[in-house]
Amino acid sequence: MIPLSIPHLGGNELKYVTECIETGWVSSAGSYVSQFENIVAEYANCKHGVATSSGTSGLHLAMHMLGIGQGDIVLVPNITFIASANAVAYTNATPVFIDIDPDTWQMDLDLMEEWLSTNNGVHVKAVMPVHVLGNMCDMPRLMDIASRYNLHVIEDSSEALGSYWNGKSAGSYGAMNIFSFNGNKIITTGGGGVIVTNDEAYAKRAKHLSTQSKVDPETYFHDEIGFNYRMVNILAAIGVAQMEQLPSFIQKKKEIDAYYRNQLQGVGDIKFQKVAKEVDPNCWLFTFYSSKQNEILLALKEHKVIARPFWFPMNQLPMFTQNEYYTKSDHSRDIHLNCLSIPSSVNLSEVEMQKVVEVIKSVWQ
Ligand SMILES: Cc1ncc(COP(=O)(O)O)c(C=O)c1O
Repeated sequence: MIPLSIPHLGGNELKYVTECIETGWVSSAGSYVSQFENIVAEYANCKHGVATSSGTSGLHLAMHMLGIGQGDIVLVPNITFIASANAVAYTNATPVFIDIDPDTWQMDLDLMEEWLSTNNGVHVKAVMPVHVLGNMCDMPRLMDIASRYNLHVIEDSSEALGSYWNGKSAGSYGAMNIFSFNGNKIITTGGGGVIVTNDEAYAKRAKHLSTQSKVDPETYFHDEIGFNYRMVNILAAIGVAQMEQLPSFIQKKKEIDAYYRNQLQGVGDIKFQKVAKEVDPNCWLFTFYSSKQNEILLALKEHKVIARPFWFPMNQLPMFTQNEYYTKSDHSRDIHLNCLSIPSSVNLSEVEMQKVVEVIKSVWQ
């Protein structure tokens, strides 16, 4: 079996976790949490990091902290992982979905701007760009639009640790931005997230709210409704070990990306995701476009190669069908029906990549 995107635990993970177990620091206190927060924040060129139990809880916390709630609208790309839209829904705000650019598969900023100009006066509070697959949304342009319409920006950078727009890191543009460390991400803590921000007050409040708004460690006095959204030390220990390997992981992901692009170029009607010249992507998960999505998925399955179709567009999911979806040509539907992701794990061997390519090519033979 060739998996899609699995963790590579080849560094100090066992050593650091063993240390947690031997010293008893496995839970919510311990030095690895703050170490991990600092390393991730520094890597993303941000001043502060607050570790959370998941990327989803980080997104929810950021929404909550910005006071987003009932009656507010948040703009979200129509192609994303469900957590982006769910985080908005948890606050009782309404996500409005914007179609994606057919080439980069990121939120279409022309459409976003058009929607804003025709919906002047509607209570739009924030925009959540998602850096889909570690490629990046045009953040300088998005920040400009957001400032003209007075919107908060929360980047869902879950998939984009180590991606840059003109040298500026994904996750360093918005007020508070999120990385996910779920098992399939470029590095993992098993499950977890980090909120990064340059605002000390936000960082302090995020820490406070994520630990049940406890005011004093010795008494049970809580000053507002909080959440149990913190990351535990034993998982942060895995994260610290993973961060030590991140540069080599990104290097390997870029090699996988180059290999597939090179081998699949000109095969049938295959097209690749466009990466703007300003973007240095982390190449997290190789995904391509072909009208033979189904045949390819079946052929790969037969050969025990794990591949996945692209996400269902948000507007097609039962809980969001009533929400507004702004589009001209429904590129989301097209991308969903024609794109698929193929094995991209850091420990993928050349023989395995050759096999994946062979099976894909066989669909046209
Ligand atoms: C784009 C995107 N947003 C949010 C998440 C949620 O992260 P988590 O699984 O850590 O809650 C993920 C990954 O799972 C993701 O890919």
